[in-house]
Amino acid sequence: MNGLAIYPGSFDPLTSGHVDIIHRAVEIFPRLIVAVATNVRKHPTFSEEERLDMIRESLKGLERVEIDSFTGLLVDFAKERGAKVLVRGLRALSDFENEFQMAHMNRRLAPGIETIFMMTSQEHFYISSQTVKEVAHFDGDVSGVVPDAVRKKLTAYNKGS
Ligand code: COA
Repeated sequence: MNGLAIYPGSFDPLTSGHVDIIHRAVEIFPRLIVAVATNVRKHPTFSEEERLDMIRESLKGLERVEIDSFTGLLVDFAKERGAKVLVRGLRALSDFENEFQMAHMNRRLAPGIETIFMMTSQEHFYISSQTVKEVAHFDGDVSGVVPDAVRKKLTAYNKGS
């Protein structure tokens, strides 16, 4: 095993819940790629470059973490990069069904690649990118729920700049 793991997501935007998983994953795996999916079916609010910038800024100084993006299938990206592990965070039971489907489909597509789940920390269980955007849209306080760089970007976005 080369110790390389991938933490994929749409990260639209990155939240403190994601950051918590990244910090914990990097304690387990020698190298971690945070991979932004660019072809998500969710019609992202932020462009690929904006999402990457927010992640770069939020993870500044964190060693052994690489930030990248991919189009197409996650397992193809993993093969291309030589990673054998995919990391996903699990919040509540409601995440399970979707994650279960994705993990099985990915294993069918690439039997040598394993998905490892990490439980989201208690203080982040209720966070989602969607709720964060909604709260910020109505000028609610999202500090602590997202990294500072994301909070600033959300404020600028809502002011139309
Ligand atoms: N703490 C807080 N929130 C979390 C979290 C955590 N630890 N982990 C996930 N979330 C939230 C996110 O905020 C997001 O909220 P939203 O639904 O309101 O946007 C949601 O959970 C999921 O976001 P994310 O973790 O970014 O993952 P995703 O489900 O958007 O990403 C991909 C899915 C990108 C991994 C998947 O679509 C993919 O692999 N795409 C590539 C194409 C492919 O291979 N398809 C076949 C898959 S079988």
